[in-house]
Amino acid sequence: MNKNNIGVKILGTGSCFPSKILTNNDLEQIVNTSDEWIKSRTGIKTRRISGSNEPTSELAYKASVEALKNSHICPEQLDLIIVTTITPDMLFPSTACLLQKKLGIHAIPAFDLSAACSGFIYGIAVAKSFIESGLYKTILLVGSEELSKITDWTDRTTCVLFGDGAGAMILTAAPCENTNILSVFLGADGSYSNLLYIPAGGTLHPTTQETVIKKMHTIKMQGKRVFKIAVMKMSYAAKKALELSGKKIKDLQLFIPHQANMRIIEAVAKKIGVSMNKVFINIYKTGNISSATTITALDEAIRTGMLKQGDIVELIAFGSGFTWGATVLKI
Ligand code: COA
Repeated sequence: MNKNNIGVKILGTGSCFPSKILTNNDLEQIVNTSDEWIKSRTGIKTRRISGSNEPTSELAYKASVEALKNSHICPEQLDLIIVTTITPDMLFPSTACLLQKKLGIHAIPAFDLSAACSGFIYGIAVAKSFIESGLYKTILLVGSEELSKITDWTDRTTCVLFGDGAGAMILTAAPCENTNILSVFLGADGSYSNLLYIPAGGTLHPTTQETVIKKMHTIKMQGKRVFKIAVMKMSYAAKKALELSGKKIKDLQLFIPHQANMRIIEAVAKKIGVSMNKVFINIYKTGNISSATTITALDEAIRTGMLKQGDIVELIAFGSGFTWGATVLKI
């Protein structure tokens, strides 16, 4: 219960994936890897890759149109746009402003939120706070990412992991007793910032010929260390959000963990004591799509009937920063 007695209703969701599919066999032609290695170490079989004329804002736009349609509202009814992304069309203006233009609306505030793969959970926390404070009534929250465009396609330790996609959610004010967001828990620890990052292109190392030649504009990662901390922090976040919601594991129909690696997902499920048949998996066809992961998964779970009205689901994420977070939703 918040002091304004305002709750948050999720009106609808939507998603969009680019049409091009990149298989593990395709990757065998690009780097020294194998379908067997990728499947057994990550669980990934295919991922979607955006076209050169298909920037992050375009996927965001198509996912938003779906979400608006499923929510039965038009863009003019929105009061705020938030886009979570680490792969914006450009450094500025924000992808949220570019999305606003594509939606054909003007004047409402729009901004990007950067929390890497935890971005959408951070976005839910921000949208919830804005709505509960009474500042904005109806918010479009979008997670849109094109990791393929910040990937070093000669580095087999990273290029097999990532993909592109976007998911959107419309949230609006509702009576407190009808709220769909039961809890949100967030965390971050910047001391791990050197384990998963892009070195150049910002103010620390502005773009020069040298930064391009040294491939400083693509993802650098210490996979093994990321793996261990991801398991620890996702399990912790999952337990904290559950505690805050007042629900028990048995009350939940589905867990939607960030889809970074099948082995991470299995380890988290084991640590929090959830059976794998309650865990949503789509990593085999998407790869890791950063902040678009949890929302596209939620949208798929709703669309395919895995989640029905009244069901309780937990979304759990972890990403560069490091950042982590979880939210318990009543659909
Ligand atoms: N194909 C074939 N071999 C590969 C390979 C690939 N795509 N990538 C790495 N290898 C090799 C390594 O070079 C290494 O060879 P070596 O033993 O001869 O040195 C071997 O496979 C094992 O590498 P290692 O890094 O120990 O594998 P791993 O079991 O830790 O799996 C990851 C690597 C990246 C899949 C795994 O560490 C991981 O998923 N980490 C988390 C990444 C993540 O989720 N990031 C995003 C967080 S939001």
